[in-house]
Amino acid sequence: MAARRLFVTTALPYANGSFHIGHFMEYIQADIWVRFQRMQGHEVHFVCADDAHGAPIMLKAQAEGLTPEALVARIAAERPRYLQGFHISFDHWHSTHSPENTELSQSIYRALKAAGLIDTRTIEQFYDPVKGMFLPDRYIKGGCPKCGAADQYGDACEVCGAVYSPTDLTDPRSTLSGATPVLRSSEHFFFRLSDPRCVDFLREWSLGGRLQSEVANKAREWLEGDQGLGDWDISRDEPYFGIPIPDAPGKYFYVWLDAPIGYLASLKHHFDTGGAARQTAQRFEEFIADPGVEQFHFIGKDIIYFHTLFWPAMLRFSGRKVPDNIFVHGFITVSGDKMSKSRGTGISPLRYLDIGMNPEWLRYYIAAKLNSHVEDLDFNPDDFVARVNADLVGKYVNIASRASNFLTRLFEGQLADVAQHPAWTALDVGAASADIAQCYEGRDFGRALRIAMEFADRVNQTFDTAKPWDLAKDPARREELQAICSVCLAGFHALTVWLKPVLPALALKAEAFLQTGPLGWADCLRLPRQVSRYEHLMTRVDPKLLDSLFEPPAGSAPAPDAAVPAAKAVAKAAGAVKAANPKAADHKAGDAAASAPATISIDDFARLDLRIALIVNAETVAGSEKLLRLTLDCGEETPRTVFSGIRSAYSPEQLIGRHTVMIANLAPRKMKFGLSEGMVLAAGWDDPARGTGIFLLDPDQGAQPGMKVR
Ligand code: MSP
Ligand code: ZN
Repeated sequence: MAARRLFVTTALPYANGSFHIGHFMEYIQADIWVRFQRMQGHEVHFVCADDAHGAPIMLKAQAEGLTPEALVARIAAERPRYLQGFHISFDHWHSTHSPENTELSQSIYRALKAAGLIDTRTIEQFYDPVKGMFLPDRYIKGGCPKCGAADQYGDACEVCGAVYSPTDLTDPRSTLSGATPVLRSSEHFFFRLSDPRCVDFLREWSLGGRLQSEVANKAREWLEGDQGLGDWDISRDEPYFGIPIPDAPGKYFYVWLDAPIGYLASLKHHFDTGGAARQTAQRFEEFIADPGVEQFHFIGKDIIYFHTLFWPAMLRFSGRKVPDNIFVHGFITVSGDKMSKSRGTGISPLRYLDIGMNPEWLRYYIAAKLNSHVEDLDFNPDDFVARVNADLVGKYVNIASRASNFLTRLFEGQLADVAQHPAWTALDVGAASADIAQCYEGRDFGRALRIAMEFADRVNQTFDTAKPWDLAKDPARREELQAICSVCLAGFHALTVWLKPVLPALALKAEAFLQTGPLGWADCLRLPRQVSRYEHLMTRVDPKLLDSLFEPPAGSAPAPDAAVPAAKAVAKAAGAVKAANPKAADHKAGDAAASAPATISIDDFARLDLRIALIVNAETVAGSEKLLRLTLDCGEETPRTVFSGIRSAYSPEQLIGRHTVMIANLAPRKMKFGLSEGMVLAAGWDDPARGTGIFLLDPDQGAQPGMKVR
């Protein structure tokens, strides 16, 4: 088979926050696929970048007193550590705020304009007269025009699920300044997706059988729905952090125009800086126009619209090659809890590495739960421990330690040639290899790993059935002993090849142990000849580690998040409004259906044991930048210890001796640093763009420790 030539990307993460676990689910999926392709000998260029532009980033930078460039640079600086930490093998990482992207975006725009696909229209939009800017939907709140619920975002109601535009809200106000927004008109640029040329092309591109069936169904709804395809507003007025639109002073490209072009910009920078030279002599423009190159984008289900409609159309009508496919995955949830885009949830990938958990455990666990469909994937701690320990340690690594033991002790590590041995031929490596390869290619990683683990079971059975410990007692059966251990190690060798896309670091150790060079896919059929003394390849997951993984994230997150997750549950039960998802109204509507009612009864409230507490001591916690250890007198015999994620906002000296409010009947929580017996209450914004300050509650003079708050 001729080598394939592949250009692969993952979605470009917004540069206004650190990585969350959803990002790594996507990177792990794409990385496994890419590593598999590389092992097949194919040419792969795998790139990503920071998505730097847009109003939220601009506003967040403002709130922190930074330029957007400085904010983006700060986020970018922390990326490599975590990407390397999880063995994500991007060939290049760039930024959409780059000369390459400016040039490409402007030239694609010019081409679209020349093709007659850009319209200008005057539209009316809400404007914040205090802040001096037009307001994106997510910064407008008001009453739902349908059910009347107060405090709803400008695009959809979280209570009844209605979808509308901000001008439909009753009593609208700007969440940035609190001002009542006024309607103002301004000239905007539109990409004419409704043009028959676009519609015809998109029908053919997205309904022609390339997309996953669920994705094609979505595209069909959009293309064939009653309203048809609407034109797409691609401009924003200053102030905006983005790329200037040529010949249109004060106008910028909407972030979603230049973001996917960032895929090309990153690839271009990769080529221009010599990174691709090892694999091809082509220059960027030749490569990207080459019909022999396949282009794939890995993305999550919330951004299908942009990738199956806007992006192919932008490329096509600017005279460029279109993507071959978009690979869409579902969302990762943690113990069934939906993750909020702006807040993250339960487990942080940063913390995962910081507390020393093995990245390959997560890679394996995620891979084992992935298939080719757009299905959500739940991270469940017990399931995680069981799966990793049973499969990786109990099945795979176990073979190496058992079989090599006899070989190194009794045969100087020499393996017998077992090519014709019935136990070896019975394992039928060729058949398993072909099946597994097909699963990797089709992104059905769960199935690939199930086939591999069934194979590992058979190898372990082969070992057990032969009873090598008995053979070892009988000098006449030495050859048999060497043969059966060699068969099992050859099985381990094949498994190493098959698991290598998922477990690259473990494979490296196994390659040294088996004394082979870097293993390619076809090597699974070869027999190893010599084995080194066995050294630990992988340790079991200690369930205790997972306890500390779930310690509350704080710092970058505002106060509600600084609290323990249990507090989030309380807040939810109390009907607190969730942070808005800035995109995908239909996704949001789905959220709303599942969320709690808008009101609670007085009895619900009475279940909270809120009390005045005196902070008798406060100290920093060695090993945590986020936490303070508080000693609280809440009127009980012994003071309580509470760990609170407020270190970014308060020094211990500021706290000792003051009163605050605590929740006293929160289930105690075991944390890495000790038991936390409650939580202190603080105020803060849900949306970091509005500020990340944390403000502890303070009762009026005279309140005594232990008093009930009601
Ligand atoms: N900046 C845009 C993408 C531009 S691509 C030209 C964006 N950024 S994001 O940071 O919000 O999301 C990046 C990727 O992470 C998206 O593919 C998104 O679907 C994915 N995920 C975000 N949350 C997720 C989960 N909870 N689970 C899995 N993936 C999720 O969107
Ligand atoms: Zn409503």
